[in-house]
Amino acid sequence: MKLLVTRPIPEPAEARVRAEPGVEATVLEEDAALDRAVLLHAASGADAILALLTERMNAELFDRSPNLRMVANMAVGFDNVDIDAAAARGIWVTNTPGVLDGATADLAMALLLAAARRLPEAERFLRAGRYRRWGPLLLCGQEVHGRTLGILGLGRIGEAVARRARLGFSMEILYWDDRGRPDLEQELGARRTDLDTLLGAADFVSIHLPLTESTAGLIDADRLAQMKSTAVLVNTARGPLVDEAALAAALRSGGIWAAGLDVFEREPEVHPDLPGLDNAVLLPHIASASIPTRLAMADLAVDNILALHRGEAPPTPVVRGTR
Ligand code: DGY
Repeated sequence: MKLLVTRPIPEPAEARVRAEPGVEATVLEEDAALDRAVLLHAASGADAILALLTERMNAELFDRSPNLRMVANMAVGFDNVDIDAAAARGIWVTNTPGVLDGATADLAMALLLAAARRLPEAERFLRAGRYRRWGPLLLCGQEVHGRTLGILGLGRIGEAVARRARLGFSMEILYWDDRGRPDLEQELGARRTDLDTLLGAADFVSIHLPLTESTAGLIDADRLAQMKSTAVLVNTARGPLVDEAALAAALRSGGIWAAGLDVFEREPEVHPDLPGLDNAVLLPHIASASIPTRLAMADLAVDNILALHRGEAPPTPVVRGTR
C-alpha cells in the first residue's frame, strides 16, 4: 500500500505505519499539502491518504488518484471531503470521532471563561504596564457559574461541554438539536428548545454542529440580534457557521458582550475587524491540540488505514468504500 500522509503527524503514529509490512509511507513537509499542485501530484499514486481538515479531498483529486481506496481524515469533522464524490467512486472515508471530545470541550470552556472574564484583555493590560492599583471597577466581566448555557448541537462534544458546565459551574443547560437527549435531560436537567428561545434566553451560546449546507451561516446578523447584549458566543466547531462580519459588527456595537473563537470563516484568515476588538478572544483552531489527543487522533486515522491494508473493517467509517 502506498500511503500519503499530507503533513507531519505525531511521531508514534508515523512509526506505526512505517513498521507495517507492505506499507510504503510518504509524509509531505509542513506546507507542501497546502500547495494544491504538490498535493495532487503526491496523491496521484496513493492507495490511501491520511489527510487533514486543511486539504480539500474532492472529485478533482480522486480522479487523478486512480488507485485511491481510502481518505482517513485526522479530524472528526469531514467537511473538507466531498463525501458524495468519494462514495460514487467506492473510496472509503474515515474520521476520528470520540477521541477529541474532552480536549475540545475543555477548550470551549476555556474560551467561554476567557471571553466572559476578559482574560486576554486583562493580560494585555498588565503586560503593557498599566496595572497601577486594584480597583472595584477594574476589568469587570460577566458571571459564569449559575448562568444559562445554550448548546447548539448536543452530540459527543456538546455533551462533554454540558457536563463541564453543569457539574463544574452549576449552569442551566438549554440545547438545540434535531435529536432529543432524554438521558441528558434526566441527568443534567438539560432542556431542549427551539433556536429562537435558546438565543433569547442563553447567557452563553456554544456551537457544536457540523458544517453542512443547512448550518452554514446559521449565526447571522438576525440571530446575533436575538441574543442578549450581555451574551457570549463560543465557536469551536467550524468558522462558516457564523457570519464573521456580522459578528464583528455585533461585538463593536455592543449587540453581544464577547465572543471566543477557535475557528474562522476563511481560515487561516480572520476577519480584519476582529483582532482590533478587545471583546473577541481569538485562537488558531487549537481545540483538539493537547499532546495526547492529537496522538489519539493520528492513531485512530492510522487504525483505519491499517485495517484496510490488513483486510479488516475500518473502525470509524463515514463512507464505506468498495475498493
Ligand atoms: C476536528 O477534528 O474536526 C477539529 O476541527 C480538529 O480537531
